[in-house]
Amino acid sequence: MATSRTALIIGASRGLGLGLVQRLHEEGWNITATVRDPAKASALKEVPGIRLEQLEMNDTAQLDGLKQRLQGEVFDLVFVNAGVMGPLPQDLERVDGADIGDLFMTNAVAPIRVARRLVGQVREGSGVLAFMSSILGSVAIPDGSDLCLYKASKAALNSMINSFVTELQRPDLCVLAMHPGWVKTDMGGENAEIDVLTSTHGLLEQINAQAGQGGLRFINYKGEALTW
Ligand SMILES: NC(=O)c1ccc[n+]([C@@H]2O[C@H](COP(=O)([O-])OP(=O)(O)OC[C@H]3O[C@@H](n4cnc5c(N)ncnc54)[C@H](OP(=O)(O)O)[C@@H]3O)[C@@H](O)[C@H]2O)c1
Repeated sequence: MATSRTALIIGASRGLGLGLVQRLHEEGWNITATVRDPAKASALKEVPGIRLEQLEMNDTAQLDGLKQRLQGEVFDLVFVNAGVMGPLPQDLERVDGADIGDLFMTNAVAPIRVARRLVGQVREGSGVLAFMSSILGSVAIPDGSDLCLYKASKAALNSMINSFVTELQRPDLCVLAMHPGWVKTDMGGENAEIDVLTSTHGLLEQINAQAGQGGLRFINYKGEALTW
């Protein structure tokens, strides 16, 4: 009997993280999912067989605790999805320094702290380490200038992923910086172009297609290569 593949999804209480868990469950994966507050994860708890872990990504003690609890486990997919939009409006003259710090900590630094602790548990040869980036992190595109801080935080994430991969020296590992599309979630808003089902279905299709191909790639949910 074939054993199920295993996934760890960071930030799965709602939106794209929750959608990823639901799609993975439909495909028969064994899933561990993290949330900041288990009391607010009712939709996630409805997914049969899910293993729930608590994680505030910006707390290194909690990161170390998670690593300890997951000791010895091997994942076919580790997906660092959690992220925030940051303070609104993104008016550089008014925005609070602490809020800028929180944004860059959450979107650019904490994802790498997660990856550093767990990369050794991504299955050798076929495992995938994925980060939820954004096309808005591409420094070349003019779109979304009203979200200049969010854009910069995703550009910073892309840069941090690059440094992480360079430092790691594991050319066999498949590392993906993924753009999910503009998606109807709390963050994306109701005017977004696609729903969570379309996005997460596409993201998972790309993960399945890319598994086993070592190297770092910046792609969207349709598998199209994006400019860094
Ligand atoms: N929606 C879009 O159009 C779009 C486009 C491009 C990229 N993205 C990216 O996709 C990812 C998911 O976005 P979404 O649209 O699903 O947003 P969302 O509905 O606002 O969900 C964000 C998720 O991140 C979690 N999170 C935030 N800060 C965290 C922290 N410090 N520690 C742990 N978990 C944390 C939230 O947990 P709580 O429930 O506890 O707050 C929630 O599960 C983000 O990285 C976002 O930047 C989204």
